[in-house]
Amino acid sequence: MPKKTSSSRRSTDAPGTKARTAKSRPPAARTSPARPVAKATGASRAGASAPALTLSRPDLLTVAALSIDDVHNILRTAAAIKAARGANVADRLSGRAVAMIFEKASLRTRVSFEVGIARMGGHPIFYDLGASGDRIGLRESVRDFARNMERFVDMIIARVYSQAILEEVADEARIPVINALSDDHHPCQGLADALTITEKFGTIRGTRVCYIGDGNNVCVSLLESCCKLGGHVTIICPEGYTPPAELIARAQADADLTGGSITVTADARAVRGQQVVYTDCWVSMHHAAPAGHAPDAGGGDPASRVAAFAAYQVNDELMDLADTRAIFMHCLPAHRGEEVTDSVIDGRQSAVYDQAENRLWAQMAVMLGLLKA
Ligand code: CP
Ligand code: NVA
Repeated sequence: MPKKTSSSRRSTDAPGTKARTAKSRPPAARTSPARPVAKATGASRAGASAPALTLSRPDLLTVAALSIDDVHNILRTAAAIKAARGANVADRLSGRAVAMIFEKASLRTRVSFEVGIARMGGHPIFYDLGASGDRIGLRESVRDFARNMERFVDMIIARVYSQAILEEVADEARIPVINALSDDHHPCQGLADALTITEKFGTIRGTRVCYIGDGNNVCVSLLESCCKLGGHVTIICPEGYTPPAELIARAQADADLTGGSITVTADARAVRGQQVVYTDCWVSMHHAAPAGHAPDAGGGDPASRVAAFAAYQVNDELMDLADTRAIFMHCLPAHRGEEVTDSVIDGRQSAVYDQAENRLWAQMAVMLGLLKA
């Protein structure tokens, strides 16, 4: 598989194949109507300046791959879009079609992307691969999938099992690809969560953020986004359930640059003094794969996972250890009575619906940046 660079998908193609253009350029056979050039009318209609965003990467596959500046710029743009309730970017995807390819179930990601695309004047196409048990690369090769899609649409948003397949799609397609969750990463969630924490505390720099439970995709993207922003992150997982060591090391390199820190422990009492207490389900979608598909992550059967996490439930007693002004966060969907009690998720410290709303604004910013709209 040819390697890609940050600025273009590939410099050369396989011998004998036609040279392909950089990802930032529209495909030759593009059929979408020309995008309006002037944006001043949309901005002035909103009475707010139109945010502009340039990202250093052609895709959003992980938070780690973004530069520190990218993360700051996404949050700044998302906040500007939110302040105008989207009116300052109302026509920015005019004439653009965006495919949403989902191998797994979704409420927030699917709806927030679809609404965000529509609010920016674009055309979302939802393709529910999961409904038929299909996956990218099963019915036809990943290359054929990507090279068809780029002829039809301007961007791919994909929720997948395999991060490697997603990276292959991004490598093959000349259009931007957004990771809407894979087994290993959930960058849209991590960026939206960074927006929420910033709103609640003014900054992530120096803020004490703990994640307790399974060191899964959500945990990894939270860790990566907070380390890009100088947060002090404590990961509390039972032995055997921590995030992969290489991802922690990569996040540590960012923390070293931003003044952040990472602590990994199995001791649930490390919630003491934390300003953010975050958890997610103990059995992710890829741990309970649909019929016909083996779970990808080898994470053990659901019953043994639930048993392993029993001492890591976020309940009132645990929240009492945290800072008195701490917030509770969860990406949702929650399994009430497992990783969190009703009293916490419905309690005064809960920020879960603010988090969910911020998916919309953060993703609108990301789309703006990747489409250079
Ligand atoms: N948090 C999140 O990604 O929710 P969905 O699975 O409902 O999209
Ligand atoms: N860790 C969960 C997140 C769902 C939004 C999963 O992958 O199922």
